Amino acid sequence: MAFRNDAIRAFFLLMVVSAAYAKAAEKEAAGSAAAASGPGATLDIVKLGATGDGKTDSTKAVEEAWASACGGTGKQTILIPKGDFLTGPLNFTGPCTGDITIQVDGNLLGSNDLAKYKANWIEIMRVKNLVITGKGKLDGQGPAVWGKNSCAKNYNCKILPNTLVLDFCNNTLIEGITLLNSKFFHLNIYECRGITVKDVTITSPGDSPNTDGIHMGDASNITITDTKIGTGDDCISIGPGTSGVNISGVNCGPGHGISVGSLGRYKDEKDVTDITVKNCVLNKSTNGVRIKSYEDAKSPLVASKLTYENIKMMDVGYPIIIDQKYCPNKICPPKPNSAKVTVKDVTFRNITGTSSTPEAVSLLCSDKQPCSGVQMFDVKVEYSGTNNKTMAVCTNAKVTAKGCSEALACAA
Ligand SMILES: *[C@@H]1O[C@H](CO)[C@@H](O)[C@H](O)[C@H]1NC(C)=O
Ligand SMILES: *[C@@H]1O[C@H](CO)[C@@H](O)[C@H](O)[C@H]1NC(C)=O
Ligand SMILES: *[C@@H]1O[C@H](CO)[C@@H](O)[C@H](O)[C@H]1NC(C)=O
Ligand SMILES: *[C@@H]1O[C@H](CO)[C@@H](O)[C@H](O)[C@H]1NC(C)=O
Ligand SMILES: *[C@@H]1O[C@H](CO)[C@@H](O)[C@H](O)[C@H]1NC(C)=O
Ligand SMILES: *[C@@H]1O[C@H](CO)[C@@H](O)[C@H](O)[C@H]1NC(C)=O
Ligand SMILES: *[C@@H]1O[C@H](CO)[C@@H](O)[C@H](O)[C@H]1NC(C)=O
Repeated sequence: MAFRNDAIRAFFLLMVVSAAYAKAAEKEAAGSAAAASGPGATLDIVKLGATGDGKTDSTKAVEEAWASACGGTGKQTILIPKGDFLTGPLNFTGPCTGDITIQVDGNLLGSNDLAKYKANWIEIMRVKNLVITGKGKLDGQGPAVWGKNSCAKNYNCKILPNTLVLDFCNNTLIEGITLLNSKFFHLNIYECRGITVKDVTITSPGDSPNTDGIHMGDASNITITDTKIGTGDDCISIGPGTSGVNISGVNCGPGHGISVGSLGRYKDEKDVTDITVKNCVLNKSTNGVRIKSYEDAKSPLVASKLTYENIKMMDVGYPIIIDQKYCPNKICPPKPNSAKVTVKDVTFRNITGTSSTPEAVSLLCSDKQPCSGVQMFDVKVEYSGTNNKTMAVCTNAKVTAKGCSEALACAA
């Protein structure tokens, strides 16, 4: 999806907070000294007063666990034991003294009282060496509030809470957990370095609004592996300012595919580069691998060095698509004298399987800024319907092709 609430908010926080930042950190360290746990402690939220009945608000106990863990030294473990724990927004802000592991054995449920939220549900800020692991769920309880999402009609809509947000975090591992029915994005990674997402499951219905699986922006050194994502929007979206991303072993569907973008919506967006998507399955998603940018960008930027390899398409709407005239819901008025998004050096290799529309390859590049350096090797996708066959629809794209089905080579 196209929103940048994280960035706007983070910018605001940066401005307001950074002046008082050192002071606040000092104060916090001092303030939580009494509550700080000993080295290598385990903080069980039930022992701190949480009730796993799915109804009692356990926010206070969980925040207390964070404050103690964050003030403690060594490896600190916050334990969410088996049970269903209802909470409002959780503000986990660092820097912390030690390294924190959140062991998620039970489930956290996000309150449906929207008045409680400033922005996100679980927001983790300025933390390093964090591990979130376990077989439990983060249940956003989205079905109760999805009806309040007006983003399909209103360009400047009010954004519902994202489930899990990492802002300015380094070296974080998210492993094993399930993110379920987020109110908005499931996982949002903003200005972080060294994030690994592994063996995670992300699930919400194909028609749930703006429930992107994993979104990232201004981030680098990101690995997503062996992860199953089914949502109502992009399974993964790689926003502006992102570099060094390896995605492998991802199964996506339903959803809108694995996307770079959208790009060009906001001013001063940074380039996207060095993205690899490998050994993935797209299953009945509306798009497969996609690069989307607004035709009239607010500032110029470049998306380059994008590699897609060994991808299996299963009945996917648009398996390979570069859309330089992206305009969701047709609500993006053209801006005069606008800047351009450049797409270059994109490689598709060994892309096979089936497409539910004949347009297996769509390279819809703009006449203002043609796509360059597009290479296609062994792209062979069959039409899953009847009485037609797959084809390539290409405009303003310079393509080198080898070993592809003849109709998919964008020869023209
Ligand atoms: C989260 O807590 C930090 C300090 O602990 C504070 O500076 C920040 O404003 C809080 N954020 C929100 C969204 O409440
Ligand atoms: C993350 O790394 C960056 C770059 O090295 C550094 O500026 C920042 O302070 C680090 N943040 C944390 C929370 O460690
Ligand atoms: C990338 O992040 C991983 C942790 O996810 C870390 O081990 C590695 O050192 C980082 N690499 C670079 C080049 O920063
Ligand atoms: C991605 O994979 C390539 C090749 O295996 C490797 O060189 C690069 O460091 C990896 N990047 C990340 C972010 O893991
Ligand atoms: C594809 O999705 C269908 C449900 O639509 C599911 O039954 C099937 O197991 C999935 N296959 C793979 C390989 O993901
Ligand atoms: C092509 O990709 C498929 C997975 O979609 C993989 O099984 C196969 O080994 C790959 N072929 C080559 C030649 O790498
Ligand atoms: C095949 O698909 C193309 C593209 O969607 C369409 O224009 C064409 O009419 C179709 N041909 C038949 C025979 O249905």
